[in-house]
Order: sequence, then C-alpha cells, then structure tokens
Amino acid sequence: MHARDALWAIGVLAHSAACMASPGDTAIIPGWHLQSALHAPLNLTELSLPAVQDVSSWYRVGSRATVMAGLIANGLYSDTDLFYSNNLQAVDQTIFRSPWLYREELTLIAPRKGQHVFLVTHGITSRADIYFNGHQIASNSTQQGSYGGHRYDITSLIQTGKNAVLIQAHPTNYLRDFAQGFVDWNPYPPDNGTGVWRNVELKQTGSVSISSPRILTDFIGLESDNVTVTIKTDIKNHEAFAVRGVVDGTIQANDDAFRTVAFSRQFNLAPYNSTTLCIDVLLKDPQIWWPAAWGEQPLYTVQANVSIGKNEISDIAPRTQFGIRHITSQVNSHNGTEFNINGSPFHVRGGGYSPDMFLRFDLERLRTIFRYMLDMGLNTVRLEGKQEHPELYDLADRMGMMVMTGWECCDKWEAWEYNEDAKGVKWIENDYSVAEAAMLHEAAMLQAHPSMLVFLLGSDFWPNDRATEVYMNALHRMDWSNPVIASASKRGYPKVLGPSGMKMEGPYDWVPPNYWYQGKLGGAFGFGSEQGAGVGTPEMSSLQQFLSPQDLETLWRKPDAAQWHMGKNDSIFAYRTLYNKALFARYGAPTGLEDYLRKSQMMDYEATRAEFEAFGTRQNASHPATGVVYWMLNSAWPNLHWQLFDYYLRPAGSYFGTKMGARLEHVAYDYEACAVYVINHSLHARGTRIVTVDLIDLHGKSLAHLNITTDTNPTASKEVAVVPDIKKLKDVGFLKLTLQDPVQGTVLSRNVYWLSAKTDRLDWDNSTWFATPVTKYVDFTALNQLREAAVSASMKIFSKHDSTLAEITLENTSDVPAFFLHLMIVDETGVELAPVYWSDNYITLFPQEKTSVTVEFDGKKKWMAGMTGANVGKKVIGNR
Ligand SMILES: *[C@@H]1O[C@H](CO)[C@@H](O)[C@H](O)[C@H]1NC(C)=O
Ligand SMILES: *[C@@H]1O[C@H](CO)[C@@H](O)[C@H](O)[C@H]1NC(C)=O
Ligand SMILES: *[C@@H]1O[C@H](CO)[C@@H](O)[C@H](O)[C@H]1NC(C)=O
Ligand SMILES: *[C@@H]1O[C@H](CO)[C@@H](O)[C@H](O)[C@H]1NC(C)=O
Ligand SMILES: *[C@@H]1O[C@H](CO)[C@@H](O)[C@H](O)[C@H]1NC(C)=O
Ligand SMILES: *[C@@H]1O[C@H](CO)[C@@H](O)[C@H](O)[C@H]1NC(C)=O
Ligand SMILES: *[C@@H]1O[C@H](CO)[C@@H](O)[C@H](O)[C@H]1NC(C)=O
Ligand SMILES: *[C@@H]1O[C@H](CO)[C@@H](O)[C@H](O)[C@H]1NC(C)=O
Ligand SMILES: *[C@@H]1O[C@H](CO)[C@@H](O)[C@H](O)[C@H]1NC(C)=O
Ligand SMILES: *[C@@H]1O[C@H](CO)[C@@H](O)[C@H](O)[C@H]1NC(C)=O
Repeated sequence: MHARDALWAIGVLAHSAACMASPGDTAIIPGWHLQSALHAPLNLTELSLPAVQDVSSWYRVGSRATVMAGLIANGLYSDTDLFYSNNLQAVDQTIFRSPWLYREELTLIAPRKGQHVFLVTHGITSRADIYFNGHQIASNSTQQGSYGGHRYDITSLIQTGKNAVLIQAHPTNYLRDFAQGFVDWNPYPPDNGTGVWRNVELKQTGSVSISSPRILTDFIGLESDNVTVTIKTDIKNHEAFAVRGVVDGTIQANDDAFRTVAFSRQFNLAPYNSTTLCIDVLLKDPQIWWPAAWGEQPLYTVQANVSIGKNEISDIAPRTQFGIRHITSQVNSHNGTEFNINGSPFHVRGGGYSPDMFLRFDLERLRTIFRYMLDMGLNTVRLEGKQEHPELYDLADRMGMMVMTGWECCDKWEAWEYNEDAKGVKWIENDYSVAEAAMLHEAAMLQAHPSMLVFLLGSDFWPNDRATEVYMNALHRMDWSNPVIASASKRGYPKVLGPSGMKMEGPYDWVPPNYWYQGKLGGAFGFGSEQGAGVGTPEMSSLQQFLSPQDLETLWRKPDAAQWHMGKNDSIFAYRTLYNKALFARYGAPTGLEDYLRKSQMMDYEATRAEFEAFGTRQNASHPATGVVYWMLNSAWPNLHWQLFDYYLRPAGSYFGTKMGARLEHVAYDYEACAVYVINHSLHARGTRIVTVDLIDLHGKSLAHLNITTDTNPTASKEVAVVPDIKKLKDVGFLKLTLQDPVQGTVLSRNVYWLSAKTDRLDWDNSTWFATPVTKYVDFTALNQLREAAVSASMKIFSKHDSTLAEITLENTSDVPAFFLHLMIVDETGVELAPVYWSDNYITLFPQEKTSVTVEFDGKKKWMAGMTGANVGKKVIGNR
C-alpha cells in the first residue's frame, strides 16, 4: 500500500468528513462489525443502508478475520482454553451452521464524472452475498471460494457522506466448498474457516484502470551484461468514448535508487475496450536473485501509472517486486522431477506448511518460521492450498525461501470422478468458474515473485482434463513463467502436463532411520513431495501449555491411547501406537514423563536426520534423489507430531535432527551400507576435505579410527569410507564423523550417531500408505546403563542489536561419552524461551571432548541457561 493509500484508509477509519481520494488510490476496509445472521435483522438490503442500523453492539474485528478469529479477538473464546486438553471438542457448533455478517460504514465522496470505484475481494470463505448501500452487488454464485478474487463496480452507488458495505458469509463445508481444509491434520476449527479471511479493498480509478504488472525476463541462467524485462499490464477503458493515454513507469533496484530505468507507452482504447500492453525494458548489469544458501536476493520494484488527457493520473498499479532468476523443471529418466535454478540443480529440502487453525496471519511469526527453516538448512516451503497473503511472498523473496504451492488435497478440490479416496461433492458446471477465478487471482498474486518455484494443480490427485484446461489457461493468461506440475503424486496425470515426477508413497508415521536407505517406497530416490517418520514431539515447556496432567500421564503410560492433539480424531493419525511401540522396544519402557520425552527426542532426532541425510547422500546417485518435503513443517495448533518445531515455536529433537541432516556441507552415515558420505549442497564450495571417523563403545573405548583426505564439489555427494567393525558392536556404540576444511582450518560438520550391530528390520511387503512395519527393532536399551559423565560448561554473553548472543563451551571431563545433552534457555519460571536459535543441540560429546555452541534469543527479561543429558545431571550454565 502506498503511504497516501494509508492516509485515505485512515480517513475512512476516522469516519472523517469527505476525505480527498484520487484516482489510483486503494484503501483496505480497515475493520468490520461482525455478527451471526441469527442475531441480526433479516432484511440485508435494509441492513446495508448506511446509518439505518445501529451495529455498535456487534463484535469489532480487523480488516481480515475468520469468524472464529474475530470471536477470539473479542474474548468470546480464548485460544489458550480452546487449545488446552480436549476443550475444542466441547465447542457447540450450532451457531457456525448459519451465515455470518460483516458490516462496515465508510465515509466517502461521490466520484466525479470520469472517476470509478470498485470493491475488490481476494477470497471470502466459503461464499458470500455482498451488499452496498442497499443494493446487492455480488451473489454467492460468483463470490465463491477462499481464493475467489473479484472486482465489483460500485461507482454509481457511492454517495458523499456515509456508505455501508455488508457481506454475508455462508457457512463452510470442506466437502462442498473450495475452502481451506485440514483433512486429517488436526481437528477442524468450529467455523471451518468461514469469513472475510483476506482483505477487501476499495479502488478508485479514472477512465482507464491498470492491473498489477506481470514480469517476464529473457534471463536463462547464463551470465550476461544485460537482461530484457518485459512488463505486461492490462488496461481497461471504463467509458463510452475512446480514450488516448500513456502508461509511465520505472524499474528500480531496491537497494540502489540510482539504478532506475524509466519506461513509457502510449495507447488508444476504444469505448469499454481493454488490452494488454507489453513493454520491454533493457536492464544493464542485472543483479541475479538466488535462493538463500546460494547467494544474494537483489530485488527490483516496478511502479507504473496510467494517465490520460494532460498528465491526468487515471490509475496507479500496485508496486510490484520482482527478481531476476530462471527456474526450470523436468522429469528425468527415472520419473523424478528435477528443478534447476539459474543453471544449477536445485535439490529441494522442504517442509509442509500449515496456517494457524483460525487463519490468523502474523508476519513476525512467519519471519521466525522462515528463519528457522533456513537455520535448519531447508530451502523450500510447501504451501498445500494455503496461499496466505501477499506478504508471505514478499518475505520469501527477501529471505531467499523457495515456495512450492498449489491446490490442496482431498475434499472439494479433488472431488474427481476417478478419486475414490475423496468424499467431496463432485464438480458441477459452476465449479469450473469458481476454480478459474481462484487460479486467475492466485496466479496474478504470485506471478512476479522470484521465490515461486512451482504451482501444483493437484496434491494427491491430478485435475481432470477440463479443470486442467481451465487452470492452464488462467496461468497462461497471467503469464506464468514457472513450472506447473499436475500433482504431488504419481497416481495419474492429465495428458497435456504429463507425469508429475513426484512421489507420495509415505511414510507419514514412524519408520526407522534405515528405511530411507533401502531404495523402496519413500526411500531416498526421486522427489518425495510429503513424507517423514511423523515425528515432532514438543518438549516439556510446551506440553504443559496444552496438555492436562492427566493427558501428560496418558502420554507415557498408555502408548496405544488416542491423543486429541495428534491428527484428526477419526484418522489413523490420532494415535502414537506405531511410534510408541518402537520407542518402548528400542529404548526401553519409559520410567516417567521426562524419560519418555528424552527418548522421544532421540527417536525424533534420528528420524529427521536420517531422512535428510539419505536424500542428501543420493543427490547425484545413478537413481538420484531430487528433493524431499518433510511432512510437516509446523502445525495449525499445539500438536504432538508432524512438525519440526512446535506451535509455540520451540525447537526440539526433530528440529536439530533436520538441522544436522540438512547442513550445507556435511558428513553422514548410511545405515545400510555402513558407509560414510560427504554431502555438498552448496553452489561454490569445493576443494580438499578431511573426514575423520571414530567409533567407541559405551565405556568410551575406541573401536575404530579413520582419517580420510578427499575432495568435494558443489551439489554433489560421494561415499568416502566404510565404517569398520559396526557389525561387531556388542550392544551400542557411538560413531562420530567430522568434516574439516584443512585450508580454512574449520570444522564444517560434526555428527554423532548411536548404533547397534543390527539395524531395524523392515517388513516391506506389509507396507501401508502411511508406514512400513518393523518386525525386529534395534536394541538401544544398553544406553540406559551408560555411566554418568561429568560435563563442565562455561558461557560468554554478547549483545547483538536487540537480542542476546551467547557462546557456551562444553567439555566432557570423563572417559565415557556424555550422551544427548539438551541445552535450554528458560525464564524465571523454568519455561523455555522461544524463538531461540541454537547452532546445535542434543549434543553427544566423546570422552574428554570439548566443543562450543552459540545461541541467540531475546534476553531482555531474566533468564537462565541450563543443561541436562541422558547420563548428565541437570545443571545451570549461566544466567542474567
Ligand atoms: C427490505 O428493505 C428494503 C429497504 O428498506 C425494502 O425496500 C424491502 O421491501 C424490504 N424487503 C422485505 C422483504 O421486507
Ligand atoms: C471426534 O471429535 C468429535 C468432535 O469434534 C466428536 O463428535 C467425535 O465423537 C469424535 N470421534 C471420535 C472417534 O472420537
Ligand atoms: C445464494 O444466493 C441465492 C440467491 O440469492 C440463495 O437462494 C441461496 O440460498 C444462497 N446460497 C446460500 C448457500 O445461502
Ligand atoms: C465443516 O465441514 C465438514 C465437512 O468437511 C462438515 O462435516 C461440518 O459439518 C462443517 N462444519 C460446519 C460448522 O459447517
Ligand atoms: C546485451 O548483452 C549481450 C550479451 O552480453 C550483448 O551481446 C548485447 O550487445 C547487449 N545489448 C545491449 C543493448 O547492451
Ligand atoms: C507516474 O509515473 C511517473 C513515471 O514513473 C512518475 O514520474 C510519477 O510520479 C507517477 N505519478 C504518480 C502519481 O505516481
Ligand atoms: C479492443 O482491443 C483489442 C485488443 O485487446 C483489439 O483487438 C480490438 O480491435 C479492440 N476493439 C476495438 C473496437 O477497437
Ligand atoms: C515412468 O512413467 C511412465 C508413465 O507413468 C511409465 O510408463 C514408465 O515405465 C516409468 N519409467 C520408470 C523408469 O519408472
Ligand atoms: C588426519 O590426517 C592428517 C594428515 O594425513 C593430519 O594432518 C591430521 O591431523 C589428521 N587429523 C586427525 C583428526 O586425525
Ligand atoms: C504381514 O504381517 C503378518 C503378521 O502381521 C504376517 O503374518 C505376514 O506374513 C506378513 N506378510 C508378509 C507378506 O510378509
């Protein structure tokens, strides 16, 4: 929004007398009065007349809020309560089965001749009737779907003084409506996400309006001292007479105001006609945009306006940010999708994103989520039909986070005749129009963003031929220049798109670390669009926020009990049975909640590390692994699984396992071949590397030591050694791998495993869509007999802007390993602070070994750093 738009919006908000609005201004309707249609007058025509109805007793909500989000903001519900134990289950849904009304009065001035005003929507869930000053301007057959963006001409209805807009949002049924469902992820919000979840705007123009610019470049990944940027924009004449005019604009490098190039194009438009202008602009010395790990994120901004007559501004296009980069995808000879960015193979290491259960959007929270992702070494976020808001893409552009988006699985979106899994209501005629509007709107929103990797037209199922045509035409209409893929699975595909090259073979529930190395199902080959061992157990500080004492007791005492904070209660993911069976067998029955949690973090760490490492080791194998998306990145509410950090943004075992496994330069262990791999995900790092391999037993006795000199190349991995004597381990051994750069004298990676002579035995033939059973588990129970280790710790504290930075040095002064040291920063009440950025955690130190980690957090209030480990007592390291 422009600064001047904001002023206008404030003018509206203040209900000030006629505020000056000029063509090109956009104002977000700043808030709404919200009420159930059951508690409001029935005559909506009348209710939408200004000043007729007193709605001051209605709930006051912001510019965008689902009904539940609005009611929570008004204190009718508290999310702390709703999220505690199984309280959500008790919410009476009756009121959510009727429509809800959003009403706002606006002080405006009637447009002069030659001026036009539009009401602009970006999606209202699930469908809406819209009224303005006593007239219905949209009906629910058009204004449909969470992504249905439309523009309604309200020029003739506006009066000087008070005006009223009224939206009736109809209740959402995920099986019938194009909404944002949660499938089996979690229980559904009581309102199914109904309401004005995205902004509604007023847009004022003169005779000619201009669309958001769409940006194409001729950059194809080869170095060049210039790039041609093509700016495409739609202009429309709203008058009954022909109009001459000019589009003027600039392209400016965001970090350098002096690098500005102007463009201009004259046009003639017949009465009511519209056209698309294509304007080529040559950019010298283009700065190329890269994903975060590969380089900088230089951005450019296009500004454009259209004027008619004597330099009379008629409309101003939304400022549009773009970056210069080139993305392609292809399906290789093994039916695996390979992405390529700026000429280099881009191996996706991603996570599946969830919005908040009530679709509340918090940019600061998202910034933390993206920072966590980059910290873990991930490079891609998968939004499965959860496109959120434009701010997400601006942020992704700036942070270098690639975005894989597309329509969601199941429910209405995939109610195709050949989809025997979906309970959704099959598509009828009007649904194709709804889908078209959604695709046009989202494509326009996403088109210019350099962070956009791919759009998936389906998730579990591919769209039928007619829907594919609708989607593809809409994408072409919006000059989509990124890959489009039919679905995230291999089940089938529309002819025009061909095979997806993505696999969705599970797992979604617990499998052992060696699963990934056996070349079957979800194993490390091809492109895994959503898969993982299901892990993501929060630590105690978080659990105590949403589980009752009884729930906590159940967690470790009743391994087969249903858990309300797992997947939806009627899905198989409501249980931790598979996971707990493995935990009890591999690590021994828990002796209490703390013991259960420690063992859970070990299981979670093993699981995520192995998945990312396996895909890393196979990135250039003969049957290559081209990408993997962990299922899932985060949760819609406090959850016990399917996440790399919890709802309260506390990282635990699954986070640090991922962070270890997805390191840019790394050394990893292949559980099946007992082999050591050097992994390089970087774009430039190459040269000599030294790998050391150390195997010790539980008493700290050395069983093997290797020191290998090798070399490394960008985006490639290679086997460098086989660990001797693993098969001779008596019970449990510890394997430490380090990777050093001898030139820089740096340790690039340090990675410790706990292993036994045997690996978990998988029963592949009895695999289901969600897991492969284990018939014989490894026995790690000897870990429970580890002798106690002594670890000394010291801390140096630095300040960094408004956060606290500290370095903690740990030294194991004993001759046995110090296993699984969990470091934490807690507040005065012992609750872990979040967000918190640790360079490493859940660390295992070899005898007499010393290492340092760093941590960054908001240390303005009192805090304490502490440590606990499997064979190390609780200890305070420092405080402030
Ligand atoms: C609704 O209100 C409008 C405006 O006051 C009025 O013209 C119309 O007759 C009313 N409709 C019904 C069904 O009462
Ligand atoms: C799941 O929760 C719903 C309420 O959200 C409840 O009506 C239903 O009985 C529960 N089903 C099971 C299998 O527990
Ligand atoms: C949509 O609008 C039509 C016509 O106004 C109305 O009959 C229908 O009940 C509305 N749909 C819903 C879901 O309320
Ligand atoms: C939400 O959608 C589900 C179908 O996915 C439906 O069963 C349920 O009744 C809906 N809830 C409300 C309040 O309409
Ligand atoms: C653009 O770059 C190409 C390749 O570097 C060069 O051949 C061409 O002359 C340049 N064009 C302009 C207008 O600078
Ligand atoms: C319209 O664009 C021209 C050229 O970029 C610029 O000089 C002018 O300030 C713009 N006007 C407005 C109102 O944005
Ligand atoms: C309207 O614009 C289109 C291009 O968008 C053009 O082909 C057509 O001739 C125009 N119509 C008139 C009446 O000028
Ligand atoms: C690739 O997919 C096609 C079509 O589904 C199939 O015919 C072919 O056998 C597959 N090739 C490989 C190597 O799996
Ligand atoms: C590994 O070997 C190199 C020389 O071959 C030596 O310089 C280095 O100190 C050794 N490193 C370790 C950790 O053993
Ligand atoms: C599948 O598991 C069952 C026991 O649960 C076993 O009897 C059967 O042999 C297994 N099937 C295969 C193909 O291994």
